[in-house]
Amino acid sequence: MADDPTDRPPLPRTEWSIEVSDETIEQFRIDGFTHVDRITTDEELAWMRLVYDELFARRQAGLGHRYFDLARPYEAGGHDLLPQILFPEQDVPELRDTVWYRNARAIAAALLDEPDESLHSWGHMIDKPPRVGHETPWHQDEAYWDPGQSFHAVGMWMPLDDVDETNGCMTFLPGSHRLDVLEHRHIGDDPAVHGLEIVDPVDTSAAVAVCLAAGGATFHHPRTLHATSPNRTDRRRRACAAEFQTAPVDLAERAERPWVDAGRAAFDDRKL
Ligand code: NI
Repeated sequence: MADDPTDRPPLPRTEWSIEVSDETIEQFRIDGFTHVDRITTDEELAWMRLVYDELFARRQAGLGHRYFDLARPYEAGGHDLLPQILFPEQDVPELRDTVWYRNARAIAAALLDEPDESLHSWGHMIDKPPRVGHETPWHQDEAYWDPGQSFHAVGMWMPLDDVDETNGCMTFLPGSHRLDVLEHRHIGDDPAVHGLEIVDPVDTSAAVAVCLAAGGATFHHPRTLHATSPNRTDRRRRACAAEFQTAPVDLAERAERPWVDAGRAAFDDRKL
């Protein structure tokens, strides 16, 4: 950021820490997901919207390989349908100094029953533009990760706009965190599309949509099946996410997940 000055105001210095209730922890253990109604302050939420808009305005020109559309081939032109930015903390290190981050890490530590300081994290931002924002199909986050390692992790997702089933709130399948990693493929069975989807349909009639006001947050296990709807509204749906995990452990035997290798090859082959 030092060589790219912006008009963004400094991070507001606010303090607010939330307590994690036993009910929240219990719901995470039973269902594989939970939520809190609020995780940050109004002042900080306003600042995070400025950061978010500034980063998405840069697109590939400013962010390189860390910006891409999750729902279309890497080199597709035209309008993005589900753009993602990886590791925004590399551009804006203050994201790690926020009430949002501290509360998210404390909740993740409680859900994982690990000390705060043992958790590593990385962030991403996913945009779902009005009217054209693509669905995120049913998937498990662990399907994206190294099949040679095991993980003790939790994913946090915070909308910067109010979310419901019409603009892409998170929808989870309770209890699905007890499943193995299911067979996935890249969306449309094209490894040049980053997003993953499960291959065989599952019964999602018991799925729970978590409507939230801006600044609320969901937490989910890396094997919990989840999805988000298209954005059918004229409203924006901006979301910041972070993964919290202890150091991954190498497995004696690598799991069989051919979509991971196919996707990595396509990712590495991208031309900008
Ligand atoms: Ni996911």
